[in-house]
Amino acid sequence: MKKILITGGGSGLGFELSKAYAKENNHLILVGRSKEKLEVAVSTITDKGGVADYIVCDITDIKSIDLLKSTLQMKYHAIDCLINNAGIGYFGPIEELSLDELDQMLSLNVKGTILMTQTLLPLINEKIINIISTAGLKGKINEAAYVASKFAVRGFTESLQKELSIKVTAVYMGGMATPFWDHSTHIKDKSRLKDPSDVAKEILAKDDGRLEIIIE
Ligand SMILES: NC(=O)c1ccc[n+]([C@@H]2O[C@H](COP(=O)([O-])OP(=O)(O)OC[C@H]3O[C@@H](n4cnc5c(N)ncnc54)[C@H](OP(=O)(O)O)[C@@H]3O)[C@@H](O)[C@H]2O)c1
Repeated sequence: MKKILITGGGSGLGFELSKAYAKENNHLILVGRSKEKLEVAVSTITDKGGVADYIVCDITDIKSIDLLKSTLQMKYHAIDCLINNAGIGYFGPIEELSLDELDQMLSLNVKGTILMTQTLLPLINEKIINIISTAGLKGKINEAAYVASKFAVRGFTESLQKELSIKVTAVYMGGMATPFWDHSTHIKDKSRLKDPSDVAKEILAKDDGRLEIIIE
């Protein structure tokens, strides 16, 4: 039974990935800030016979990540796979982006992904999967700073692929119907967004150590 840690496992794509990987007889470790969301997510998986735990951690805070590492070492010694999934987006004309919104995107999407990878690297046996977005492949109107954060994660991922001996996969997908959009009017017709459970199943099906998974 492989141990898979997923950041942002309490909602959206992270939760769907957790359910999909749990069905394949893996042990899921869900990470996020909200204990309540993580508890519900873990119960949903264990009620169906899956194996899952959660650890509360703010991945923008190095002290919180260090504590997470200690807990992982104590409880599990090592993990097989880290899925860097937690991310946030703020959209609109670049002139209207606030400093706080910019800070949040860079802290979570970029710094959080880098710090989690760097800190947990000695514990990872097999692979890292970085959830990026099609925003990591091309620029988009009213998404400049989000796109910049995702290009950064793409650059980080491609560099790790050359630097590390473990497998590192970049995942690029378009819009999904998740809480990511709850406070945004950027997408007018949300009915056209993909179901995150379909995206999770496709990621699982293509998770064979390849460098990129692109979900059209
Ligand atoms: N939805 C889309 O259309 C779409 C498209 C392409 C790519 N993506 C990417 O997919 C990934 C997952 O997003 P989603 O759509 O599933 O959105 P989501 O449901 O809002 O998930 C984001 C998750 O990140 C966690 N998180 C936020 N801040 C955190 C922090 N400081 N420390 C630890 N965890 C934190 C949240 O949990 P807590 O609040 O409990 O911490 C939440 O579970 C993101 O990287 C996003 O950029 C999304």
